[in-house]
Amino acid sequence: MAKFLRLDKAVSQVTDLSRAEVKRAAKAERITVNGAVITDPAMKIADSDDLCLDGELLQEAGPRYFMVHKPLGYVSATKDSEHPTVLDLIDEPNKQKLHIAGRLDIDTTGLVLLTDDGQWSHMVTSPRHHCDKTYYAHLAERIDESAVEKFAKGIWLNNEKKRTKPAQLEILYANEVRITIGEGRYHQVKRMFAALDNRVLELHRERIGDIALDEDLEPGDYRPLTAEEIASVH
Ligand code: URA
Repeated sequence: MAKFLRLDKAVSQVTDLSRAEVKRAAKAERITVNGAVITDPAMKIADSDDLCLDGELLQEAGPRYFMVHKPLGYVSATKDSEHPTVLDLIDEPNKQKLHIAGRLDIDTTGLVLLTDDGQWSHMVTSPRHHCDKTYYAHLAERIDESAVEKFAKGIWLNNEKKRTKPAQLEILYANEVRITIGEGRYHQVKRMFAALDNRVLELHRERIGDIALDEDLEPGDYRPLTAEEIASVH
């Protein structure tokens, strides 16, 4: 969560100016917070605010948390020589400091979380923290009702020594399902349906824990998480 500091203290911590010198700099309109000139040295600023002196970025903004609506064809990586990346969709200062909390395949769409808070992303991805992920899947074949129990018991995936953890399967139509899993093995959802001789044609992540993909976000759009969404991961 964001920490707050007085402006004069925050600036003096990251420059060689004393607090008295920072006060004078503020009065001289040399300091901006998120682009606005601030002359009050007592103003409380968050560690997620952009802080500039004479136009130069002083503060490493962070921790920061965003949700992205990942479109098809984008890779969940920060760099890729062949394909556009989820990070290409973000227009934020120092965006290379952000990392992805739970990747999606290039042909999967939906909710991706980005942050520079390593502890937080660990809680999102580690099965121990029970941060379930929910996907909508369109399948090549009709799905039988018996799959619900098979997924609840756990499935043996090819080349794996342990069954998958219990997963909830909801059949929406003949070949459309909603599936919730608590772990994130390699291509897990696609491999679970492959184990039942089916195939995923479309996969879309709708939710991570209590964080649902915002319906107002078009594919390619992003927004910061709310304080409530950030705190929902623990
Ligand atoms: N499972 C998959 O198979 N692919 C994804 O992108 C996410 C979960």
